[in-house]
Amino acid sequence: MEKGRILSGNRPTGQLHLGNLVGALTNWVKLQEEFECFYMVADFHALMSEYEDASGIAKYSREMVADWVACGLDPEQSTLFVQSHIPAHAELHLIFSTITGVPRLERVPTYKEQLQEVKDRDLTTYAFLGYPVLQAADILIYRADTVPVGDDQLPHLELTREIARRFNRLFGNVFPEPVAKLTQSSRLLGLDRRKMSNSYDNFIALADPREVVREKVLSMVTDPQRKTLKDPGRPDYCNVHSYYEAFASDEAADVARKCRAALWGCTECKARLAERLNVFLDPIRAKRSELLQDPDHINQILDKGRRRASTIADETMELVHQALGF
Ligand code: TRP
Ligand code: SF4
Repeated sequence: MEKGRILSGNRPTGQLHLGNLVGALTNWVKLQEEFECFYMVADFHALMSEYEDASGIAKYSREMVADWVACGLDPEQSTLFVQSHIPAHAELHLIFSTITGVPRLERVPTYKEQLQEVKDRDLTTYAFLGYPVLQAADILIYRADTVPVGDDQLPHLELTREIARRFNRLFGNVFPEPVAKLTQSSRLLGLDRRKMSNSYDNFIALADPREVVREKVLSMVTDPQRKTLKDPGRPDYCNVHSYYEAFASDEAADVARKCRAALWGCTECKARLAERLNVFLDPIRAKRSELLQDPDHINQILDKGRRRASTIADETMELVHQALGF
């Protein structure tokens, strides 16, 4: 039986962090065997929010690829590519925009939320309204049937399916209706217990050096009920414990026991976690910096990705042109 095809992407707006790893990347790595995978650096999507200072996008794009490979995405097995290297995404976005209503886009919940929440930049642009239309083009240009995403992206998947249906009905059957493969949302919160995010500065980056990781872990918010060493703690509540579960699960039960019985202090507990995290991150840091010191190697990976991606994208655009009669 033929493998299903996956497309997913990430916006290069900052450093990849542990939340990205637990939330998406680990899952992407696992899917490589079972599916034909396309993983995309969504630089056009990044531009939609970063246009006032776009200087970081190219740098973060290359770092993202290095992080991906360091974490186990295999550029031989999977297609790793940059969105803007395949200009046909923009063409298909334009074609889709002719069959997508503005009121429909204005009702997309992520759009409404972002307009309300993001105050430090102007997102009332023409492009930002069309963000999910470009996302539909990203997915459908590879005729992907499966899209691993977090639940925040479900409205975009729903719109993608609507656009596929509408195109097929109006012009002829070209596109599959892709389904979301929900990545179980990461239980890993940021250092301050808010969602881990580049915009909150509460993350541990995959690239953080040992000492920075240690300082950040020591600054983590723990169980406020543990005021002194003698107060028992609640590992189910404490964020530090969920980091143990994610990165040092062999110790998690013991940590919970010592916490509940007040057998050790939070500083000791966190110092131990920092060490385990550093042991986990050492090979990732080494691999990513080796890659980043060899720009030709990254270029090769991205060239290969561009070639593979454009082969499929060209086929699809041929079908689209036939369907349109252009
Ligand atoms: N919107 C996605 C996010 O913010 C990124 C993205 C762009 C994407 N194009 C995509 C995800 C296509 C899945 C499929 O995370
Ligand atoms: Fe959290 Fe560890 Fe302190 Fe318990 S001992 S509250 S798990 S940091």
